[in-house]
Amino acid sequence: MAGLRKSYGGTTVVDGVDMEIAAGEFVTFLGSSGSGKTTTLMMLAGFTEPDSGTVSVDGRDITGLNPGKRDFGFVFQQYLLFPHMTVTENVAFPLQLRGVPKAEIRRRVGETLEAAGLSKFADRKPRELSGGQQQRVALCRVLVYRPPIVLMDEPLGALDKKLRDQMQTEIKSIQRELGLTVIYVTHDQEEALVLSDRIAIMKDGRIEQFDTPRGLFERPRTAFVADFLGAANFLTGKVEETTEDGCTPVRLDTGGVLKARAHACAPGQRVRAAVRPGKLRLVGAEESCCTGTVETAVYVGSLTRLTVRLDGAAPGTPPLRIETAATPPRPGERVCVTADREDVSVFDETDGG
Ligand SMILES: Nc1ncnc2c1ncn2[C@@H]1O[C@H](COP(=O)(O)OP(=O)(O)OP(=O)(O)O)[C@@H](O)[C@H]1O
Ligand SMILES: [Mg+2]
Repeated sequence: MAGLRKSYGGTTVVDGVDMEIAAGEFVTFLGSSGSGKTTTLMMLAGFTEPDSGTVSVDGRDITGLNPGKRDFGFVFQQYLLFPHMTVTENVAFPLQLRGVPKAEIRRRVGETLEAAGLSKFADRKPRELSGGQQQRVALCRVLVYRPPIVLMDEPLGALDKKLRDQMQTEIKSIQRELGLTVIYVTHDQEEALVLSDRIAIMKDGRIEQFDTPRGLFERPRTAFVADFLGAANFLTGKVEETTEDGCTPVRLDTGGVLKARAHACAPGQRVRAAVRPGKLRLVGAEESCCTGTVETAVYVGSLTRLTVRLDGAAPGTPPLRIETAATPPRPGERVCVTADREDVSVFDETDGG
């Protein structure tokens, strides 16, 4: 898809979405409510006409093609089952449409319902099922005919945590086994991380970053991405020097310096440096580090979560969050904090995230 745009009544809700998805890839749009995920998916599906931009498959422009002709499978936020048909009949329907032989239909419907834990509901009508069960039937009805490209919009939204985990595993294994291309929408981070080869982080109708889960975590390109995925500490400061491989060092407003990995930045530039709680290290004062005082230390099993107030931190700024597996210091203890250059990202101060 290239340059996809859509406005409603003068408000732009999708603002130039460009991406290329490889066959067999599992790609997820992740973003908060109203960021334009569903609208983008609807334009791919052909249910919403873009104001501009193109959608193509294998180099063929399908922007104007109607949804029925795209051979995509859809599972939407609102599942639409046929109310007068049983579960089995609902799931068999797309196979009948495609003229699959009866015995084959029986086998595939049986297998699919079994996998989704729905065999015992096979003869019920949709209204005799819970919302989550209906959602699973809707999922089966698409997966049963194995369309090469499947679009899913929060298909597990109505399920409780346990079923959701089960269905995630199921979706992922079917996708792998059949080599399906899946374009998925969710606002659940964990779900996106579990399922996806690549994730497009959406904000205000734009893609902030389209990358692998690891890439998003370790090399966030914007402060928004660093903050949105997992936890990040933000420290303001000024770039002292730039070298070939980074803005090094950044002199923090609280005093002390941090080295940051390669980024576009200029000497004297005001920046925010982002570091994940697990990447901050407590070191002896002999190393270059930032001093502070432990406020809280909470043991959570395999590690301890600390909050540390840096000396010189402006009133009202949140304390640093640090996770450590080593023997933790106690509240009130003095510590010195640093991070490896590879684990420090910097963003211009105006990138408010
Ligand atoms: N048919 C429409 N008419 C007017 N505004 C619309 C229409 N469809 C969507 N919008 C607006 O476009 C914006 C993006 O909506 P969209 O449904 O794409 O968000 P989303 O990312 O899927 O959110 P959610 O996570 O809540 O499902 C929202 O502000 C929404 O109110
Ligand atoms: Mg939506």
